[in-house]
This record gives sequence, structure tokens and C-alpha cells, in this order.
Amino acid sequence: MKNVRVAKSAGFCFGVKRAVDMVYAQLETNDETKDGIKDPIYTYGPIIHNEEVVKDLEAKGVTVIHDISEIEESEKGTIVIRSHGVGEKIYQTLENAGYHIVDATCPFVKKIHRHVREYGDAGYHVVIIGNASHPEVEGIRGWGNEEEITVIGTREAAENFRVSAGKKVCIVSQTTFNYNKFQELVEIINKKGYDIIVLNTICNATEERQTQSRALAKEVEAMIVVGGKSSSNTQKLFEICKNECANTYYIQTIDDLDPAVLRTIDNVGITAGASTPNKIIEEVQNNVRNEF
Ligand code: F3S
Repeated sequence: MKNVRVAKSAGFCFGVKRAVDMVYAQLETNDETKDGIKDPIYTYGPIIHNEEVVKDLEAKGVTVIHDISEIEESEKGTIVIRSHGVGEKIYQTLENAGYHIVDATCPFVKKIHRHVREYGDAGYHVVIIGNASHPEVEGIRGWGNEEEITVIGTREAAENFRVSAGKKVCIVSQTTFNYNKFQELVEIINKKGYDIIVLNTICNATEERQTQSRALAKEVEAMIVVGGKSSSNTQKLFEICKNECANTYYIQTIDDLDPAVLRTIDNVGITAGASTPNKIIEEVQNNVRNEF
């Protein structure tokens, strides 16, 4: 039997786990109406970037709503807001349309919404350091006044940033933004001489997962990184682990792993990207420990 260790923060972060659990909890408590029919359950956007989980939920009767325009046509029911969060108007539209909202917005993202509202109301121009097309950033934007919010994701955008004289500026960040890049962009804005307040709202879940995976990769003879091939955070984990441990393997499920590569190895480490369900991590762990 091999000695197998799993990085503590492998897989779902707290916010994503909470959101996925909330959808499954809805399924459990979705009582049948007197006609024997259950209320429809929706998620506003895929609850997670993991096809297996989304398919499993679909098979259990959860439908993904991709756009607010689909709201009117769909039969009303319960709708779960995913961890990325949404703008205030979306809540209003859903409520007015008669949906029951279950809010699975990550509390760390919710905190950013509150900052944007409070500083916006206090007359600040809000800068979101992030990627403008990311759903989390779109949601954050929706908590302030459109004209008083700027999203900055590049050096160029930071250099071109201007507000009227005397305007105070509040800077927040997309939770998954790279810290060094955040600092770099904040410094560029800071040089412009505005009265600035910087709220570092980067979540450390990603960094923690990387740090723990790196430390584990240093201590084992082989490292297995589990996650979707197109998941950028899993690719990053793979690079980090490969740097520390030459025998690092990138797999999506246990079927991708050739048992021959671990035959003479006793100490194996496992980590997983942010959208890898626990079930898959456990399956890899059990197989490697007992059968390989
Ligand atoms: Fe996850 Fe929430 Fe952080 S969704 S990455 S714990 S901000």
C-alpha cells in the first residue's frame, strides 16, 4: 500500500463548495406540490466550471439560466445565484418576475458589493482591478453607479485612468486577481495624486492551494494534479508541482493515470484544481493507495 497525501486545500474553495452544496440542498428540500410536481430549480449561470457537476445537477432537474432574457420565458421557481455574485438589478428583475432567490454569492464577494455601494454612496469613484468580462466583475459593477465605476485590468488602462479634480477614488479587486499585478496597477494609479483608498479584496484561496501543493510536491516521489484540461488554475498547479517534482502527472480522472508510472513509488501527493469535486479526488486517492 502506498503512502498517499492530499493537499489540504485541494479542490473546491470555500465559496464554490458552499454554492454547490446549496444547490444540492435545494434539491433535497424541494417538496412536491399537491399535484405531485416539484418546483423548477435554476442556477443563474453554471454553478461551477465543471461539466460533470453541472450534468449531474441537470440530471437531477436543475436548469442553467444563461441570461436574464430567459427569465420571462421560464416557468417560475427557485433560482440559485452562484458564488461569483450578480449586480443588484438582477436580484430586482428575478424578484419582480416571481422567482424565489437562493443567494450563494461567496461572502467574500458580497463584501466587495458592500464596499462598492458604501464608497459609491459616499461620493467616491470606484476602481475595480480585474477582468471586465469576468462574471464576478460584472456583478461587482452592478452595485455602483455606472458612471462612477472603472474596471482596470492592464497597465495601459491604469495609465489612462482619469477622474475629475477633487474626486476621491476607492480601489477594490476581483477576488482571483494576481496580487503582484494588483500592486503594480495600484502603484500606477497612486502616482496620479488622487485621494485614494485601497481595499485589497483578493481572496487567498488560490494562493493557499498553490503554496500547499508546492510544499507537498517537494516532499513526495510522485505528484498527481487532478483537474479539467482547460482549467487554467489546474494548469498553473501542474507547473508549480512539476517544478518541484519531476514525476508530476496531470489527470482529469483516475482513468488517465497509467499505473505503471507509480509501480516503484511509495510516497505520492495529490492536489486538485478549484473546480474538481471531492468525489473525483477521493477516487484517485483510493485507487492510488490500494490498487496501484
Ligand atoms: Fe472561492 Fe470565494 Fe475565494 S468563491 S476563490 S472563496 S472569493
